[in-house]
Amino acid sequence: MVKPDAAGRLERLLGAMTPEEKIGQLNMLSADSELTGPGGPADYMAALRAGRLGSMLNLHGAERVRAVQRVALEETRLGIPLFFGYDVVHGHRTVFPIPLAEAAAFDPALWEETARIAAVEAAADGLTMAFAPMLDVARDPRWGRICESAGEDTWLTSRLAEAKVRGFQGRDLTAPGSVAAVAKHLAAYGAVLAGRDYAQVEVSERSLHETYLPPFRRAVEAGAAALMPAFTDLGGVPLTANAAVLRDLVRGAWGFDGIMVSDYDAIAELIPHGVAADLAEAAALALKAGVDIDMMSHAYTKGLPEALARGAVTMADLDAAVRRVLTFKARLGLFDDPYRETATTALTAERRAAHRAAARDAARRSIVLLSQKDGLLPIAEAPRRVAVLGPLADAAGEMLGPWSASGRPEEMVTFLAGLRATWPRSDVAHARGVDIDSEDVGGIPAAVDLARSADLVVLCVGEARGMSGEANCRGHLGLPGRQGELVKAVLDAGKPTVVLLSSGRPLLVPELLDRAGAVLATWFLGSEAGNAVGDVLSGNWNPSGRLPVSWPADAGQIPIFFSRLPTGRPYAPANRYTSRYLDIPTEPLFPFGHGLSYTRFALRDLRVSATELRAGETLSVAVEVANEGQAAGEETVLLFVRDPVASVSRPVLELKGMAKVQLASGERRTVRMSLEAEAVAFPGIDMTPRLEPGEIEIFVGPTARTDALLKTSIRVLAS
Ligand code: NOJ
Repeated sequence: MVKPDAAGRLERLLGAMTPEEKIGQLNMLSADSELTGPGGPADYMAALRAGRLGSMLNLHGAERVRAVQRVALEETRLGIPLFFGYDVVHGHRTVFPIPLAEAAAFDPALWEETARIAAVEAAADGLTMAFAPMLDVARDPRWGRICESAGEDTWLTSRLAEAKVRGFQGRDLTAPGSVAAVAKHLAAYGAVLAGRDYAQVEVSERSLHETYLPPFRRAVEAGAAALMPAFTDLGGVPLTANAAVLRDLVRGAWGFDGIMVSDYDAIAELIPHGVAADLAEAAALALKAGVDIDMMSHAYTKGLPEALARGAVTMADLDAAVRRVLTFKARLGLFDDPYRETATTALTAERRAAHRAAARDAARRSIVLLSQKDGLLPIAEAPRRVAVLGPLADAAGEMLGPWSASGRPEEMVTFLAGLRATWPRSDVAHARGVDIDSEDVGGIPAAVDLARSADLVVLCVGEARGMSGEANCRGHLGLPGRQGELVKAVLDAGKPTVVLLSSGRPLLVPELLDRAGAVLATWFLGSEAGNAVGDVLSGNWNPSGRLPVSWPADAGQIPIFFSRLPTGRPYAPANRYTSRYLDIPTEPLFPFGHGLSYTRFALRDLRVSATELRAGETLSVAVEVANEGQAAGEETVLLFVRDPVASVSRPVLELKGMAKVQLASGERRTVRMSLEAEAVAFPGIDMTPRLEPGEIEIFVGPTARTDALLKTSIRVLAS
């Protein structure tokens, strides 16, 4: 909230501005580096001095930011401070696991903590805004941006939304170590056809409202200061011009009162989208829809004067956007503390060490043990000779993953370094074998020799970091380059082999999964990658990560996700006319929630606090979890529901709750989760929310595999 006296100050400021200065407040330009779209670097200092710049992206470093802010304050007519945004997607200087990996921790407290640390570091680096969290539900691993998401599930992404907004923004945007969060990309960007970035989106009204919008609504309810519309369209209307979503739904029905920042060049791209003939039309469409800030397309500076002259927008439209931007700057405290001295926390050596410790914890919690044979892991006693092989074994820069913010390769702990630290007395040798992006297989024999001489092989393969993220879609989801040959040759050596599979998406690697002693999804784990892997291989940490996406068995299954609608002809092996393929299975290779542990958990005795539930009431769901194995460990328990008969067909499973529990070997404990009646409400045929009376099935278990779930049911009563 902006105090009334401050509101008066903003109105006076607005009254003093020329139309050019008003448009300038809506203009965001990039610093010279890290451009992620068309167009070369803009002369942002000239624009600033002329009163034609309101904010920047990609400028960071406390001194650089301060110098530019000084010009805004001292060398422009009105002295309005700038704000500075950056893609702080998974950490800033301390790099945390990519969001898809961090989602595997199923842990909102962790998600909040890593956002908080990122915000503290970003604020200390002069930044005021993080272009995060990314809240696109993503069900297609061909889409490179699945790595930035929390995966396939709406409920999980919504929990991540609120945790990240709290983490970035703290209680108050002026508080030390807070930055404004930008929830992006509103909405359904993850549904691009065939997983190709920036392509057409086809979603029904129902899946828009049930699957793609709820995480954004949660972010708004959690107080997100800003939203970013997606590059893509809905029903032929690009989000950047989509008044029905941005203005009527989000600002209107949801009551969002923050700012909307366009995506990079997105306003000018309304022209190639085919909905605007020139920059004036593009600018008018975006402004009318409610987009306040033009990131790097120059459509507002070049097109709005003409749009005003044509009467396509009014001064009142312009004032409304400028008022929102000035109010946002006031919320950040920029008029009182333009250098954000109160928002800066000193990064002492102690604090940096704490951030690194948090990165190690986040990384080990994000690792998913996909498969293992004969109890190869954990390696209880340090092996005598270890061969750490593959192109990702000693690749510091790759550990950063996509969107590395201010992370520095030289500060990343590689797998090789982490394993040397884990087993300081072992002989830990390394050979690359092949590069990810080269055809040269000349290094394979040396890698095989090393494997033969070792007691343990750790084979580090997967994608390069630049193979996922924006504009990095893939049609083939196998190991890129000649890594397949390296894998085959090393596995043929017949030594106990652990595979570290690094990627920004599920990969299709049947040979690895069939033959390797153990395969761990190590995604891109960030600063402490190697130490985290050392913790897991040695058994100092019992792997607890669970897949936030269904892992396909074949590319032909994509998109594949558990929360699908039932069909009239569910797959039945004996019946040809059912929903199936002739040549591939219908089920994923690993279900949502899959992840092995060094111990064995059993779930029993599912109980509910009532058998009937009315609107406004909350059900308590309890289950006993027992650790029946030899090691201490952490289990994730998932709560699903299904409405078997309703006025519209409901998904076969919907995630509605989760809990984590740490148990010593032999220990058992009752875990409780709650389910509000409203959680089983849904948009009716007319799309208005309905809580329909009738049976609701309740399932509890570790994964979305229905045959592994405990089941009970309750009745929802008409209230
Ligand atoms: C384009 C991306 O879609 C968006 O996520 C990002 O925040 C901006 N570029 C700025 O880098």
